Amino acid sequence: MREREIEEHRRLFRERFGEGEEPGLFFAPGRVNLIGEHTDYNGGLVLPLACEQGTFLFVRKKEDYPMLLLSSRNPHMVKISPGHLHPAGDWADYVRAVLHALREEMCDPPPFDALYCGDLPLEAGLSSSASLEVATAIAAASLAGTELSGEEAARAAWRAESEFVGVPCGIMDQYAVSLARSSHLLLLDCASLSYRHIPYNLPGVSILVGHTGVRRTLAGSPYQLRRRECEEALRIICGVVGERACLGRVTEEELAAAAPHLPETLLRRARHVVEESRRVARAARSLQEGDVESLGNLLNLSHASLRDLYEVSCPELDALQEISLAQRGVWGCRMTGAGFGGCVVALIDGNAVPAYLEKVPSLYRTATGRDPSFTVTLPGGRARRLKGEGSG
Ligand code: GLA
Repeated sequence: MREREIEEHRRLFRERFGEGEEPGLFFAPGRVNLIGEHTDYNGGLVLPLACEQGTFLFVRKKEDYPMLLLSSRNPHMVKISPGHLHPAGDWADYVRAVLHALREEMCDPPPFDALYCGDLPLEAGLSSSASLEVATAIAAASLAGTELSGEEAARAAWRAESEFVGVPCGIMDQYAVSLARSSHLLLLDCASLSYRHIPYNLPGVSILVGHTGVRRTLAGSPYQLRRRECEEALRIICGVVGERACLGRVTEEELAAAAPHLPETLLRRARHVVEESRRVARAARSLQEGDVESLGNLLNLSHASLRDLYEVSCPELDALQEISLAQRGVWGCRMTGAGFGGCVVALIDGNAVPAYLEKVPSLYRTATGRDPSFTVTLPGGRARRLKGEGSG
């Protein structure tokens, strides 16, 4: 969002919540996963980045309940009274959930008024919910006088989403939003939660995100079924090769040994996870070496595996991936996020972007009948306070 729009929202905050102390302003980015899909809940590796779009949050502490929450995407003000943190089935459930998670193990935020706005598309596979949760966590904790570490913010947001909102997600999105570093990717081992920042060492290469126009949510998608299939595959593999903590710790040799014992579908799911995690390790190396060609190939292999072995792509994602790959200057392209809709991510020569944007929308529209949208992003920074004391 531009400075001008941020100022407009600051005015809106004052209009709706009254003059008084300057509200604090917090920002949390969305995330684009470059590679390592459906590996996080299997204890594998992931390599996401924070995008430049995200959630902006104005907050001001107040003396008394009810708290008032406003979102620029929704005309209705939400009221939260003390003790009313159970889900109400609206967007503010994410806020209630974060407050709940903070209270259970970190701090006790005071009541506040808040205005949420931002430029991240919803249900696009770019972690708009993790972005909103992490923004809420760092803002609410700071009103309580607590500076959360990146890990603490990620954990509060993850607990909020998985335990309170009830979406059985992995940890990647919340970690990426809370721990990303500008001009770097985040190499995260989802079993040990250890991570490294890898410099985005590809001069002249842009990260292009293309939205298929197909919205998707995790709830109601086969996401949970995939998780169960992976658990079942792991159980069978452990019976053959001995105890392993997660599929991300199974080697290709061990998988080959267990293969005759696995039903065909489970073998495909497990192969995707084991190979994808290795691809992430190779991708991190390619990035360090500035080898865009091999990185691009890894993205393409990841897409094929998600389409054919893990079966979480859809015709629109496949069409946009194929059309993108056929364009000049595109090194690699894959679906990003949970799948079933949402976005692709492509690595493209910066000077080829105008021609891509000229040709691809109409090719994609002809192939699918849908309107795509595109953004070019660089790896952005983590969730943070932008302005104001906010701690009242
Ligand atoms: C969603 C989940 C993540 C991860 C991805 C798939 O974004 O929130 O935890 O599992 O899907 O890689």
